[in-house]
Parts: sequence; structure tokens; C-alpha cells
Amino acid sequence: MGKMNGMVALITGGASGLGAEDARLLAHEGAKVVITDMQVDLGREVAAAIPDCLFLEQDVRDEARWAEVIAATLERFGRLDTLVNNAGLVRFADVETMSYEDFRLQTDVMIGGTFLGCRAAIPHMSKDGSGAIINMASVAGLKGISVIPAYTAAKAGIIGMTRSIAVHCREQNYRIRVNAIAPGGIVTPMTAQALAELPQDSAGLSQTQNHGMGQPADIANMVLYLACDDGRHITGTTITIDNGETMA
Ligand SMILES: NC(=O)c1ccc[n+]([C@@H]2O[C@H](COP(=O)([O-])OP(=O)(O)OC[C@H]3O[C@@H](n4cnc5c(N)ncnc54)[C@H](O)[C@@H]3O)[C@@H](O)[C@H]2O)c1
Repeated sequence: MGKMNGMVALITGGASGLGAEDARLLAHEGAKVVITDMQVDLGREVAAAIPDCLFLEQDVRDEARWAEVIAATLERFGRLDTLVNNAGLVRFADVETMSYEDFRLQTDVMIGGTFLGCRAAIPHMSKDGSGAIINMASVAGLKGISVIPAYTAAKAGIIGMTRSIAVHCREQNYRIRVNAIAPGGIVTPMTAQALAELPQDSAGLSQTQNHGMGQPADIANMVLYLACDDGRHITGTTITIDNGETMA
């Protein structure tokens, strides 16, 4: 018996990195998985390697598309138990040099996309009586890194919004748990981009470089824990998985 048997999970940004690993692990544990992404070829490739996995093209900023994605999930698998708001991106520049366009891009994708995902999913989860939402924050939302002011704002925003939505679900007596994960320094295309674009002595990279990086499975294991019954007593919190980056 897998820990996700009979459950359906929807994962945004599932074509790459953490989202793809989440999809593989949840499916391995018995979930039916829907992955969405703007990267269509990669998304289809990831889905093709997972039994009974549905890929849908989605820009998480598109409000109307969210309704279609939820409808397609329900049509294919009949229910929705887990939403992982994982899609994200980063642009490097400090507050004096970042364009407003790049600022808005990051907050729209990560704060806006997470808000739209929660709003679209909750009514359908509450119909089934239970669910789990997992929002991908970051250690960047817990500390100050000068070259990513918008990413920092977005991830801190996700941490706050996670608590607000968890309280809402409790007030409404929905059995929906809402949590965030704050990863730090996991090997993915996003961190490869950081290593390529930032100076090697950058404060944002030093901890990662000094103490080693984590693997996508380090995050996927926590996504699984929060999504399945193991995490039944956890809601409204942010779990940091960063090999101690924020401990002192
Ligand atoms: N890798 C890390 O160390 C780390 C640390 C902290 C937080 N995170 C967060 O984890 C999540 C996954 O990151 P990753 O490291 O796997 O990066 P990644 O770049 O490998 O994956 C991110 C995915 O999100 C997709 N995406 C971007 N904008 C989108 C949009 N508007 N609509 C739909 N999909 C979109 C991308 O196409 C990509 O497939 C992100 O939210 C990231 O901020 C990662």
C-alpha cells in the first residue's frame, strides 16, 4: 500500500527540478498525478515517464486557466487531494538595478500563482472533505539576500499567505491543511542558474557552497509527508529544509 493510494495530486512547475521529483515520488506512493508547466516538451517528457500522469500546459498567472486545469483534473481522476504550488523563477539584481517588470514577474508568478491555485482548488477539496496544500517558499523568505529582492518578497509573501489560508480553512471547518516548505540550496536548474549568474563569493551562495547542496528528494520526501496522512496534525506552518542555512 502506497502512502498516497487513492489520492490525486496537482503539481505546478512539474516539468523540472523539485516539481518533477515531487511528481515521481507521489506517483510511486500511489497517487494519480497531474503536472502543469509552461515548458511543454519537458512537461510531457516527465509525465510520460510516470504511470497514468497527466500533463497540462499552464501559466500559473492566468486566472482563467486555473479553472480549466482543475476541471481537467476532476474529469480525468475524479477528485483533488493535494495541490503543490511549486512553480517559480528567479531574476538576479539588487533593489537599485532590478526593473519593475522583473519585480512584477516574480511576485505575479509566485504570490499571484499561489493565491490563484489555492482559490481554485479549495472549493473542490472541501467537497471531498479533506486535502493538503503545499506552497513552495524558500530560505530567501526568511533572510535577506541583496540580489533577489523580488524573490525574497514573493517567498516571504507565500509564508504569510500560507498561514492566512490555513486559518481560513480551519475557520470554515474544512479538513484542508495548508503548509509551506522553505528549501535552501537544492540541486536543480534554478540553482544551476544562480551558480552561473552570481559571483562565486556572493553571500547568497556561500553557505550552499561551504556545506554542500541537497537533492530534490530531500524536498519531495517532505511534500509526501505533508500530503499524506503522516502530516495530519500539521497545518499553517513553514518547514525549513536548508541544511542549517538559516539556523544562526
Ligand atoms: N532549488 C532550490 O534550491 C530552491 C530553493 C528554494 C525554493 N525553491 C523553489 O522551489 C520551486 C521549484 O524550483 P526548482 O529549483 O525546481 O526550479 P526549476 O527552475 O527547475 O523549476 C521551476 C519550474 O517552474 C516553472 N514555471 C516558472 N514560471 C511559471 C509559470 N508562470 N507558470 C507555470 N510554470 C512556471 C518553470 O518552467 C520550471 O519548470 C520554485 O518555487 C523555487 O522558487 C527552490
